[in-house]
Amino acid sequence: MRIEEHPILDFDRGEKITFFYNGQEVEGYTNETIVAALHAAGVRKLGASPELHRPRGLFCAIGNCSSCFMTVDDEPNVRVCVVKCKQGMRVEEQNGRGVVRV
Ligand code: FES
Repeated sequence: MRIEEHPILDFDRGEKITFFYNGQEVEGYTNETIVAALHAAGVRKLGASPELHRPRGLFCAIGNCSSCFMTVDDEPNVRVCVVKCKQGMRVEEQNGRGVVRV
């Protein structure tokens, strides 16, 4: 769900695109962050903590914590609250520490 109208803010979401979240196609916009698109699609759990495997979700939303770490196009530990959506990118839930694929 996205806010369509606001009394004092205008939204410039940019171009509509699609990307993949855990293999499922998700809709987003070029001017919104990955987590905003996932939130609009109903995704609340973004990963799990490294040691106790507790669920993690959006926390600070400004790039200052590690709560939203996800793997984006094989790059682990991407803060998806500050990275914008791109057509065709692959976003995966990250459970524990990220793994660098070589
Ligand atoms: S939610 Fe804190 S860095 Fe993204």
